[in-house]
Amino acid sequence: MLKIQGLRKSFGDIEVLKGVNLELKTGEILVIVGPSGGGKTTLLRSINYLEKCNAGTIEIDGKYLMHEGVYASKGELKEIRKMIGMVFQGFNLFPHMSVLENIIEAPTRVFGKPKAKAIKEAQDILGFLGLTEKENSYPFELSGGQKQRVAIARALALEPKLMCFDEPTSALDPALTDEVAKVIKSLSQKGMSTLIITHDMEFAKKAADRIISIDNGIIIDDHIYDNGIND
Ligand SMILES: Nc1ncnc2c1ncn2[C@@H]1O[C@H](COP(=O)(O)OP(=O)(O)O)[C@@H](O)[C@H]1O
Ligand SMILES: [Mg+2]
Repeated sequence: MLKIQGLRKSFGDIEVLKGVNLELKTGEILVIVGPSGGGKTTLLRSINYLEKCNAGTIEIDGKYLMHEGVYASKGELKEIRKMIGMVFQGFNLFPHMSVLENIIEAPTRVFGKPKAKAIKEAQDILGFLGLTEKENSYPFELSGGQKQRVAIARALALEPKLMCFDEPTSALDPALTDEVAKVIKSLSQKGMSTLIITHDMEFAKKAADRIISIDNGIIIDDHIYDNGIND
C-alpha cells in the first residue's frame, strides 16, 4: 500500500529526514514510534504532500507521489492525495460546524458529492463509531475522545485507502487509549491500511500489527515489535 525509499527532507540547512525507508502492507497497522523532534510529523506530512521532500521515492497503492526525487503531475498528485485520510494531532475540527457538517464539508464542497448521499454516508460512519446521538452537537460539546472519533469520521468520509494518524492519544486522557486502539483495529478489520506515529509506546503496543522506530531522521529498527500477523 505504501513504500518509501531514501526519503530526504531538509528545512534550510537542517536535514530532518535522512533517507527513510519503510513499507506498509494492505490492511496492516504500522506504528512509528520515536522521540519528539525525530521527524515523525514531517514524515507523515510528506506522505500527504503537505511537505515537499528533497529526494527519494514515495509510492502509494502502486502510484508514485514522488519517484527518485521527482513529483507526480498536479493532476496525479490530486488523485493520490484522495487515497489518504489524515487525522491531525489537535483534530482540527471546524468549531462553528456541527458534527454532521464537519463530516460532509469536504465530500460535498471539495468533491461535489450530492448532499443527501453525503449525509447518509456520514450517518453510517457515525453509527459505526458509536456517535449517532452526536450528529447535531458542536465540537465544544464533545469530550476529547468523541472529538477524536469525529476527526476519524471526517477522514473516513473521503473513503481513503490509507489512514494516517499523528499522535492520536496526545490530546486524550490516558484511560481512552484502549478505546482509540479498538477503533483503529476495527477499521483495519474492514481492510483499512493504517499508519500511526506516536511517542506513546504503550498505545503503540495496543494498536499495532508492527512497530518501527524513527530517531534523528532515520528508521533505526525495523523489528522492535511484531505481533506475528505478517508471518
Ligand atoms: N516547518 C518547519 N521549519 C523548520 N523546521 C521544522 C519545521 N517543521 C519541523 N521542523 C524541525 O524538524 C524536526 C523534526 O520535527 P517533527 O517532524 O515535528 O518531529 P516529531 O514529530 O518527531 O516531534 C524538528 O527539529 C523541528 O524543529
Ligand atoms: Mg510530531
